[in-house]
Amino acid sequence: MTFCVRVRPLPRPQVPVDKNSLFPPVLLIMAVAGISSIPVDGHDVVTTKLTWSKEVSRVVFRRCVSCHTPGGPAFSLLSYAEARPWAKAIQEEVLRRRMPPWNAVKGFGEFQHDAGLSQEEIHTIADWVEGGAPEGDAAFLPATPKLAPPLATKFSGRRLAFPGRLQLAAPLSLRAIEIGRTAPGAAFKLIADTPSGQRIPLLWIDNFSPKANRLYVLKAPVALPSGTRVTAYPPTGVALTLIGS
Ligand code: HEC
Repeated sequence: MTFCVRVRPLPRPQVPVDKNSLFPPVLLIMAVAGISSIPVDGHDVVTTKLTWSKEVSRVVFRRCVSCHTPGGPAFSLLSYAEARPWAKAIQEEVLRRRMPPWNAVKGFGEFQHDAGLSQEEIHTIADWVEGGAPEGDAAFLPATPKLAPPLATKFSGRRLAFPGRLQLAAPLSLRAIEIGRTAPGAAFKLIADTPSGQRIPLLWIDNFSPKANRLYVLKAPVALPSGTRVTAYPPTGVALTLIGS
């Protein structure tokens, strides 16, 4: 016996939806019709002009593939085929600022190799995923990036370790800040108050993840006169080291 099921095109949604949410009715129709597989691409709902080839690959190449590369510490995001299955997870990680691993809040202190994404970069990735994560025309792909040199993990100089509060007994040209044993999830702002009343924001850590811990090398040295008080707010539960000369 044969029978025929008319598959009506799904209505175009008013709001962008996760394409996975279209699957249950599709699977039901497939089950009734005895179809075992359908091309997924035919059912992607694309509601964005942003594409992998043009905009998203450029952000990912700049911000992610130093780690997300074949043979690297995390799965490869070098190609559309590799990145596409991760689209939802990518959106979630960047919106929550868990990727790239960095811990520091952008704009509070200035660092070399600042890994924090700009708002624009976050929107590019998030809106692309929301809009169906299309590939676009491969002609627009940028060249495959060269691997960036690994981030510095050591900085030599005078080291001043302190548990949350410190008053400088001598001037310090601050170059880097190291975070020692600190509880996961910890949040604090590190601020320098100079004797002349200047307040200098040094570093703001939010939702500390030990795995994402970095050496924070300042973009330019910060001159801290003798008598400067360096304080973490709140000053408890943190272990910090100032490195400088
Ligand atoms: C400094 C290295 C590094 C950078 C840069 C980096 N990642 Fe990751 N990423 C990792 C590692 C390591 C893991 C796996 C282990 C973990 O979760 O910490 C991971 C895991 C992930 C996961 C899976 C999370 C999960 O468990 O579901 C996603 C998605 C992701 N990264 C996306 C990105 C994106 C997008 C970027 C760029 C905007 C990025 N990552 C930049 C190291 C990095």
